[in-house]
Amino acid sequence: MGNEFVSYSFLLLLVVTLALVVTSNGADVLRLHSMDSDGMHIGGENNGRRSSPGGGWAVSMDDPNDPAVQVFALIKDLVVGKTMPIYFPYIKDPASFQFFPKETTRHIPFSSEAIPELLRFFSFSPDSKQALAMRQTLEVCEKEPKQGEVRGCATNIESLADFARGILGSDSQVEILRSSLLSDPSTPLVQNYTILDFKAVSTGDIIPCHSEPYPYPVYYCHFQLGAESRVFKVNLRGENGEMMDSVFLCHMDTSTWRPGHVAFRLLGVKAGESEVCHFMAAHDLAMFPVPK
Ligand SMILES: *[C@@H]1O[C@H](CO)[C@@H](O)[C@H](O)[C@H]1NC(C)=O
Repeated sequence: MGNEFVSYSFLLLLVVTLALVVTSNGADVLRLHSMDSDGMHIGGENNGRRSSPGGGWAVSMDDPNDPAVQVFALIKDLVVGKTMPIYFPYIKDPASFQFFPKETTRHIPFSSEAIPELLRFFSFSPDSKQALAMRQTLEVCEKEPKQGEVRGCATNIESLADFARGILGSDSQVEILRSSLLSDPSTPLVQNYTILDFKAVSTGDIIPCHSEPYPYPVYYCHFQLGAESRVFKVNLRGENGEMMDSVFLCHMDTSTWRPGHVAFRLLGVKAGESEVCHFMAAHDLAMFPVPK
């Protein structure tokens, strides 16, 4: 086996950072259009360009032939011994998904308005791939939330914790879960995995976060108020012997999803009539309260 879930509690961290966060911005973590460099940048509606299928809204993800859509399943698919094709990307540089310390980035503006300055700062030409990715990520982070939605981007762990506590309650102990890393670089992007074991971890408020392309690690988190989710740990064995401890997230209420979402086509269900679950890549996170 060898792979362990990356799962840790924020409690200690929160004790350390609480004073700092609260005094620096009055704990008003859900402000709109936060333009300070405090790390949490609240935006609005997803513009449909996602770097991962977890958000469930990607335009590129509308292509059923895109390997990255091979992540969707239903709760009834969780059966020990069942085999299904699943997409898990190999991550060459796991460090690229680890937040920088707050001090490292707090002087760098995080705003579309600062794009000319950011291009100079990072020495990107305005037409470069990096510049495009940066613009798109800032756009995702600054979009207005939909009705009942809370969303934002975190550029450091303190702001991620702050965002979670803003939703889950300021006294919550927050657990963060992510899938284990693939150990074998030659593991196919999509291969058949057999379910060895699974376990329900949490039901209720679960906040998914997705890493976004940016010159330094940025996570985009979104949450639909009142929409119940369920999270499972699923142990998988790949056809090539790869062992995965994966996070399986179920959105129980899909009534607000676009009816044309590729997940409905792949699963043969309709918006609002069924949950939609997906296996999460290791560069995505699921945050939820530790049961009291
Ligand atoms: C998974 O297994 C099925 C049944 O053996 C096979 O038809 C399919 O091609 C396999 N998929 C992948 C991605 O290997």
